[in-house]
Amino acid sequence: MERIKMSTPLVEIDGDEMTRILWADIKRELLEPFVELKTEYYDLSLPERDKSGDQITVDAANAIKKYGVGVKCATITPNAQRMEEYKLHEMWKSPNGTIRAMLDGTVFRAPILVKGISPVVKNWKQPITIARHAYGDVYRATEMRVPQGKAELLFTDLDGKETRATVYNFECPGVLSAQYNKDSSIRSFARSCFQYALDTRQDLWFSSKDTIAKKYDGTFKSIFQEIYEADYKEKFEAAGITYFYTLIDDAVARIIRSKGGMIWACKNYDGDVMSDMVSTAFGSLAMMTSVLVSPDGNYEFEAAHGTVTRHYYRYLKGEQTSTNPMATIFAWTGALKKRGELDGLEELVRFGEKLEKAAIDTIEAGTVTKDLAALWEGETPATAVNTADFLAAIRRRLEQ
Ligand SMILES: NC(=O)c1ccc[n+]([C@@H]2O[C@H](COP(=O)([O-])OP(=O)(O)OC[C@H]3O[C@@H](n4cnc5c(N)ncnc54)[C@H](O)[C@@H]3O)[C@@H](O)[C@H]2O)c1
Repeated sequence: MERIKMSTPLVEIDGDEMTRILWADIKRELLEPFVELKTEYYDLSLPERDKSGDQITVDAANAIKKYGVGVKCATITPNAQRMEEYKLHEMWKSPNGTIRAMLDGTVFRAPILVKGISPVVKNWKQPITIARHAYGDVYRATEMRVPQGKAELLFTDLDGKETRATVYNFECPGVLSAQYNKDSSIRSFARSCFQYALDTRQDLWFSSKDTIAKKYDGTFKSIFQEIYEADYKEKFEAAGITYFYTLIDDAVARIIRSKGGMIWACKNYDGDVMSDMVSTAFGSLAMMTSVLVSPDGNYEFEAAHGTVTRHYYRYLKGEQTSTNPMATIFAWTGALKKRGELDGLEELVRFGEKLEKAAIDTIEAGTVTKDLAALWEGETPATAVNTADFLAAIRRRLEQ
């Protein structure tokens, strides 16, 4: 059989632990037999990041900016215990954080739906994609615990002119927090959301609390509206999709009662909380895909889960594991489809679709990894298999 050829390299970003093992297995079993993979490879495993002083992460992000599409394996974000375990020179920052900052991108997370595993919310029939603005707000707030006294907000402009506002006259001890965000970051967030909604032909919802935070959340609301009117309204109408703004409490109520099928753009904290709620309600973190989209149209596809450390330690002892490779497979198919779309390679796009279908069909026919067996509600009982057997079952379908 002739393998599918690629024209532009895909930026391939390898990672750590169990997902690194999955990575190689997926390539060997499901990709290389069918596609002549053309990738520019970056090894972001923790030892390589340490060896390069984390330069490799910066290089990988620049490669995505150059070629436009990347696929990333899960990586360890070091903590004190990892410093010891890997004898690191420094506690390197989260690679995802570094890449996201360099691409100025927004992360879109969506579940993979299969028959036999139903969302806790019974009326959810289509994926709900959460877009989280991962900059500022409470994550970069300046906090204080204060005794009795007067708290003020003071701003000094470039000419030295001061603007003051009283926050509160504390008659007893209390707490204070000052948050900020930047128009430039909000604009990038809005553009990434509008762009991704068009790409995937899904309605875009954005929610905040502008009735209370009139200036803070009001700025988010008006920037979204302004960019929509100026650059996207006509394109959305032509694509038959809508942009909809509502208050966060109203959004929650509507989302719960909806059929799904929309992108829900959230401010930083809302996105942090809602993405965990939505992924849990859809079933499993192992069935959650993630794509980082920059406002100028660069894409990095990955699984939303981590490196599955517990399975890796068992793997190192020579045990078989039943790690779910779905999200990592979908990271690859997402990237290959996008590469195919950008390069006009219809065959590559179709291969991505076929691989996704083979993977979903395998589960729907009752062959699942252990994590899914626990959630299974199909009519006939499911068979839980190890990762190797699961990949082999997908391959058999793909070959057919
Ligand atoms: N995107 C990323 O690169 C990313 C994201 C999160 C965590 N991490 C890293 O991953 C490491 C482990 O973190 P963690 O344990 O908090 O997160 P994790 O996602 O690896 O695991 C969380 C839980 O979900 C289960 N799980 C996750 N994916 C699974 C899969 N594919 N199949 C079966 N079960 C699965 C695990 O067994 C565990 O119980 C940490 O070092 C962390 O820094 C990386």
